[in-house]
Amino acid sequence: MSAETAHRLTLASLRLFSLLPGALGLLRSIFGVSDPRLRLRALGLDLSSPVGLAAGLDKDAEVFEAFGALGFGFVEIGTVTARAQPGNPRPRLFRLPRDRALINRMGFNNHGAEAAARRLSRPRKTIVGANIGRSKVTPNEAAVADYVASAEALAPRADYMVINVSSPNTPSLRELQAIEQLRPLISGVQAAIKRAAPGRAVPLLLKVAPDLHDADLDAIAELSLELNIDGIIATNTTIGRDGLTTPRAEVDALGSGGLSGAPLRERSLRVLKRLRAKVGSRLVLVAAGGIETAEDAWQRICAGATLVQIYSALVYDGPSLPRRIARGLAERVERAGFSSISAAVGRDGRESS
Ligand SMILES: Cc1cc2nc3c(=O)[nH]c(=O)nc-3n(C[C@H](O)[C@H](O)[C@H](O)COP(=O)(O)O)c2cc1C
Repeated sequence: MSAETAHRLTLASLRLFSLLPGALGLLRSIFGVSDPRLRLRALGLDLSSPVGLAAGLDKDAEVFEAFGALGFGFVEIGTVTARAQPGNPRPRLFRLPRDRALINRMGFNNHGAEAAARRLSRPRKTIVGANIGRSKVTPNEAAVADYVASAEALAPRADYMVINVSSPNTPSLRELQAIEQLRPLISGVQAAIKRAAPGRAVPLLLKVAPDLHDADLDAIAELSLELNIDGIIATNTTIGRDGLTTPRAEVDALGSGGLSGAPLRERSLRVLKRLRAKVGSRLVLVAAGGIETAEDAWQRICAGATLVQIYSALVYDGPSLPRRIARGLAERVERAGFSSISAAVGRDGRESS
């Protein structure tokens, strides 16, 4: 079965299963996470666990309650664009099992911001972030208005918002990471959120690529502080192909796309450390990229991440993964002599200073 067919079947089964009376409660009782050592307050939200589902799995906000019931402390929906769009032609998602990795060039296939906003309008138990990107038909010169339209639709319904300027699969999207482009984009989205959700402080984060040069990362960190956004997600997928054991010819034959999973681990960790060194605890850092185990998650938290996100490892390890990672984290909190996971955030920096 192709990777995308498997993905669609999984989502469809989860969606159908969730409709059965009592199903979500059952999932929660088997997989749910309720451990006082993992509860934390971040981004003004009370979370049951720092382990979240990364963007791209529940693109259209269809199954976030099921993922919440599986033990994720929060779920990021999207990337959603202002206009509905089909994404790139298939095949566009590939497994690299030898590397516990994925390559995807989905290209923001989604039903559009209005549809996602409608799905988020019902009361919910799960904390949901809305990740927005630029519609493919919109050129970068008109990007601000495109993001603003999505932000206006989603901010009233989201617990936090994410500006995604780091997907490699929408032509020239990553150019929006340049400071001159990023400044009006962030300001525009901030104003849109204020207009659309008056009186409610909806936290805004920026999601960055793992392929940025240090100087660019530093500039993004400075701008984020200057414009007072709430956090940075490090990282999206990489366009690099380093560290793979799958033969190069096989990898090349798959074509372009973002690489995620285990081979991304070191690169994402490095970006996180660089950002932490620059912003300290003034921004909430969210780590994503190659997190597969409790030890990986703990390492990111000790390096300065308040929250972590998972995608590829879930594909390889299945639905018990969020709970397994949560348990391992709770054990580590205990072993370190802390009463809460929050105390471990940035521990490495404190020890070395
Ligand atoms: C199939 C697939 C689709 C993705 N789609 C998105 C997306 O729409 N928006 C986004 O911000 N990140 C997207 N991502 C990136 C993930 O959110 C995450 O940042 C990345 O995969 C690294 O985490 P991982 O190594 O745990 O997979 C996608 C990843 C995969 C594998």
